Amino acid sequence: MRISVVGGGYVGLVSAVCFAELGHEVNLIEIDQMKVNAINQGRPTIYEKGLDEMLSAHADRNLVASSSYESIPDAKVTLICVGTPPGSDGAADLSMIGSAAKSIGMALRDCVGYHIVAVKSTVPPGTTEKLVKPAVLKYSGKADSSTDIGFVMNPEFLREGLAVSDFMNPDRIVVGSSDQKAGDIFQEVYSGLEAPLVRTSLTAAEMIKYTSNAFLATKISFSNEIGNVCKRLGIDVYEVMKGVGLDHRINPHFLNAGAGFGGSCFPKDVSALMHLARDVGEEPVLLNAVVEINDRQPMRMIELLEKRVGDLLGKRIAIIGLAFKNDTDDARESRAIPVIMELRRRGADVAAYDPQACSSMRKIIPDIQYCANPSEALKMADACLVMTEWPQFSLLDKEFDMMRSKVIIEGRRILSCNDAEGICW
Ligand code: UGA
Repeated sequence: MRISVVGGGYVGLVSAVCFAELGHEVNLIEIDQMKVNAINQGRPTIYEKGLDEMLSAHADRNLVASSSYESIPDAKVTLICVGTPPGSDGAADLSMIGSAAKSIGMALRDCVGYHIVAVKSTVPPGTTEKLVKPAVLKYSGKADSSTDIGFVMNPEFLREGLAVSDFMNPDRIVVGSSDQKAGDIFQEVYSGLEAPLVRTSLTAAEMIKYTSNAFLATKISFSNEIGNVCKRLGIDVYEVMKGVGLDHRINPHFLNAGAGFGGSCFPKDVSALMHLARDVGEEPVLLNAVVEINDRQPMRMIELLEKRVGDLLGKRIAIIGLAFKNDTDDARESRAIPVIMELRRRGADVAAYDPQACSSMRKIIPDIQYCANPSEALKMADACLVMTEWPQFSLLDKEFDMMRSKVIIEGRRILSCNDAEGICW
């Protein structure tokens, strides 16, 4: 099938490459010409496991990037994969969705035959029906009928770092559609993948995405609350959650207590869902608590640190791990950010190391010391805080001997040395 993907960010690029891998003819539309050139040369613009090889197998063959919308009329399906960043009030900013829908509509003006416009971006319930559909119909001059244009909402459930594998091995595929025909044709884009298919209305599909992310975030904050109680009682929360997670009604995933959740999705989506709830007159009591626990968690690292080393003024503190999680160079909403900000507020000197995320953190916090390896950060440090669960950190051992005092506090359970104290264990 010929597919157009609008937006060459993380979701758009991974989806476009994986659709090409499934055998489709894919046109990726991206306004940034530098990204277009890189993609056509087979160079991914993001760090994602397995993407490199897959992109070089398909770039300039059945995957072509361009900054023009002119390929859209030849495609059967166009997927919208543009960003929905949080606005200043916490609600999702839908301006990029609106302009993508307008451009798609204009491109479809002279299209003959049936076309499906599908939204993959995370959008509040009602967006596909009330924003995308009217804009596409208005600018294309088409009627919403079985002969012209169908609308689909197809949320993504891709974890950064594991996005290619999540795409190719999904737990489920959700297809919300305006009518039976649109959904029936659209689901063919996934033929070749084995997964339960969930067919829904457009709005239910939109709500499934927010609900999934909010539930996973809730599991994490729940584990952190239990972890904080365990810490006071001298109990290892990881032993507790092992016993809890084996109950199939609960499952073992997303029960790892620590410094809280970060990234470009959970904080943004929980906040958008809370905003949505308030808009319809429902106070999101549970989600308020989820966010409050998550906001407090990084400060617990500082409290533990102060208990161990006293006043932080002039102390050298090593931050090991800056990415919001392992296997990514993304530092957005990383729990290391509030920790570093607070350390600096208290007059500490920060020396930071991350295998991938130093340059993205440098854009957020430019004026701390960025180190080329863990030893450089740990050398003569008064204490060290571990903020990301990179597997290679489990090998750190002798490097800690270079510290002025061996105070090691873990915000993620990853070290194997015996001297570390955990945030909740
Ligand atoms: C998340 C979801 O897991 C994906 O299903 C979803 O598609 C994606 O958001 C999105 O909306 O696009 P992602 O943000 O890449 O994916 O990262 P996760 O692996 O879910 O981790 C999020 C945060 O939770 C990280 O900071 C991680 O360290 C933290 N976490 C995760 C915990 O603190 N404890 C856990 O047990 C698991």
